[in-house]
Amino acid sequence: MKFYLDTANLPSIRKFNQMGIVDGITTNPSLVSKEEGEFEDLIIAICKEVRGPVSAEVVSTDHDGMVKEAKHLSRLAGNVVVKIPIIPEGLRATKTVSSLGIPVNVTLVFSANQGLLAAKAGASYVSPFIGRLDDIGHRGMEVVEDLVKIFSNYKLKAEVLVGSIRHPQHVVDAAKVGANIATMPPEIMEKLIQHPLTDAGLKRFLDDWNKARKEKPSLTI
Ligand code: E4P
Repeated sequence: MKFYLDTANLPSIRKFNQMGIVDGITTNPSLVSKEEGEFEDLIIAICKEVRGPVSAEVVSTDHDGMVKEAKHLSRLAGNVVVKIPIIPEGLRATKTVSSLGIPVNVTLVFSANQGLLAAKAGASYVSPFIGRLDDIGHRGMEVVEDLVKIFSNYKLKAEVLVGSIRHPQHVVDAAKVGANIATMPPEIMEKLIQHPLTDAGLKRFLDDWNKARKEKPSLTI
């Protein structure tokens, strides 16, 4: 499964990208609004940092406006993916934009039917938001499971990009049901790396090593 970071924060992107574990980036207007500087400059800088797909979202809600923004965003860098919301005008825009050869990530997907429609309209990525569904008492992962099955049944080439991930178990569950991509905030990626037994184990190794060196000063690496 591919791991994306769900942030527009360049230092965080750099930090995890240097570990070789970042396959792409997703942003949205809320995430971009937390950062300094111009939107376009930020997207260009992120696209230079990460080779994989970088989703940048339109803010128009009509077909022509979305298409205009999509063309503009796609000119910023070769790895820009345009994020479009699943509304009727968004589906029209997805059809137009994807037929121009610009990859589209259809966002704000909360049901399998919405995801299926997005794929039919030509989306390269379909983004179910599982945490927001869990928040209102639904099982977000069910939508992911359904979409993986449906896309496989009909050999649709859209990738299931799981968004609104709130904890590490969401990532494991998304991988178990066969989602293509999990996008997560930097705090969650950090949690995937950490384990208290790793820290305790490392501490014991180093303590033993240092103790042995005191007794045998010739012990070096
Ligand atoms: C995905 O593309 C979205 O940017 C994101 O995952 C939304 O997550 P949230 O529900 O935590 O805002």
